[in-house]
Amino acid sequence: MRKAIVYATKSGTCQDIALMLKDNLTNAEVFDISTETPNLANYDLVVFGGAYYAGMLMGKLRKFIKANRDLIKQRKYAFFVSCMETKNYKELLKKNVGEDLFEGAEDIRWLGYGVSVEKSKGFTKLVSKLLKYALTKENKPITLIDDNQIKDMAKKLEEIK
Ligand SMILES: Cc1cc2nc3c(=O)[nH]c(=O)nc-3n(C[C@H](O)[C@H](O)[C@H](O)COP(=O)(O)O)c2cc1C
Repeated sequence: MRKAIVYATKSGTCQDIALMLKDNLTNAEVFDISTETPNLANYDLVVFGGAYYAGMLMGKLRKFIKANRDLIKQRKYAFFVSCMETKNYKELLKKNVGEDLFEGAEDIRWLGYGVSVEKSKGFTKLVSKLLKYALTKENKPITLIDDNQIKDMAKKLEEIK
């Protein structure tokens, strides 16, 4: 199965996750949607990954998914998200990609979060500083990527026929 991982990131977390997922998959390519536009027709399985900002899946990824709805539905696909919210991430995804795409996904996972003041700009940088402060105060890590979930997701995707 030819696989594509298509991600969007502001502060690097989804890129790190996408590359870790790729390392656990066979025959997979990774695309940063801000600089590359993959032709989904070339792939049997597509994994979309992005962060939520103010409850919205990153804009470029959302638009790419919207523009490719039919092509996506004609193949196997899955989603991963990266965000602070671990309870409502599926509901948020449903709102962002639509019920039909949500229901047809092979897998949907939260794979972690990350805050990077250094890699962020403007308003995002300001909020990142506040988030970093809050996380530190609560003795929580600034970045948390769930390696076990990544491996588990890769295993599930590899089993798709
Ligand atoms: C400005 C800003 C807004 C955010 N909004 C949300 C949000 O609405 N829900 C949430 O769960 N996480 C939110 N987060 C946390 C990010 O989704 C999280 O840090 C994510 O891992 C960033 O991924 P990235 O490094 O790939 O951009 C926000 C972070 C920032 C800086």
